[in-house]
Amino acid sequence: MDALVPFLQLLVLLLTLPLHLLALLGFWQPVCKTYFPYFMAMLTAKANKKMEKKKRELFSQIKDLKGTSKKVALLELGCGTGPNFQFYPPGCKVTCVDPNPNFEKFLTKSMAENRHLQYERFVVAHGEDMKQLADHSMDVVVCTLVLCSVQSPKKVLQEIHRVLRPGGLLFFWEHVAEPRESWAFLWQRVLEPTWKHIGDGCHLTRETWKDIERAQFSEVQMERQPPPFKWLPVGPHIMGKAVK
Ligand SMILES: C[S@@+](CC[C@H](N)C(=O)[O-])C[C@H]1O[C@@H](n2cnc3c(N)ncnc32)[C@H](O)[C@@H]1O
Repeated sequence: MDALVPFLQLLVLLLTLPLHLLALLGFWQPVCKTYFPYFMAMLTAKANKKMEKKKRELFSQIKDLKGTSKKVALLELGCGTGPNFQFYPPGCKVTCVDPNPNFEKFLTKSMAENRHLQYERFVVAHGEDMKQLADHSMDVVVCTLVLCSVQSPKKVLQEIHRVLRPGGLLFFWEHVAEPRESWAFLWQRVLEPTWKHIGDGCHLTRETWKDIERAQFSEVQMERQPPPFKWLPVGPHIMGKAVK
């Protein structure tokens, strides 16, 4: 089965050659960074409908956070369009980080629709290096559909750990690789080099649960879920929380 992968990858590469050439010449990235926020705005509206109950359950745990007498300081990492704001309890002080400034327009709209939160700032930065944020400054970090796209999940998780205060919580919802022996995993490997260009750096085959489990949190709880969309090549999802 493994021997098929390079052959099929080459076939897909040939079928999508213009895309790969544009990427090689550096013309694709600016196009992708511009259209991706529109794509995410469409997709997250649909995803939120399917995931509403699960997201509500996950983020309702913010209310139970111990050791926060004041308002909850929450970092939305890889915030995108801000699709999680509606699920946060009133009064959270939200800081947003994303390397793509083209999301700001969509973020502003989500903020206007969710007046129960207090918005601190939008920092244009990569999760691997959030020097603008102080150590132990956050009670909660939220990371949904982000660790597939970052350069280094390990470095991002180290940064999350740094900015969280002791006892602080990371909430995550991420798509991950299919089981290694499955045909679905083979197709993920075949499509990944092309999908990375379409999905703004999104990897299909990351075993992100391993990165989270290795990331020095004192406790990790997660559940595996089927993908919300069958028509996308993204695989199963993991949802859960990690305690610093
Ligand atoms: C698939 S979107 C998800 C957006 C949003 N979190 C959601 O749930 O809809 C991936 C997001 O991660 C951001 N991103 C990509 N690389 C990143 C990095 N190195 N650090 C932080 N965010 C990153 C992208 O700009 C984009 O907003």
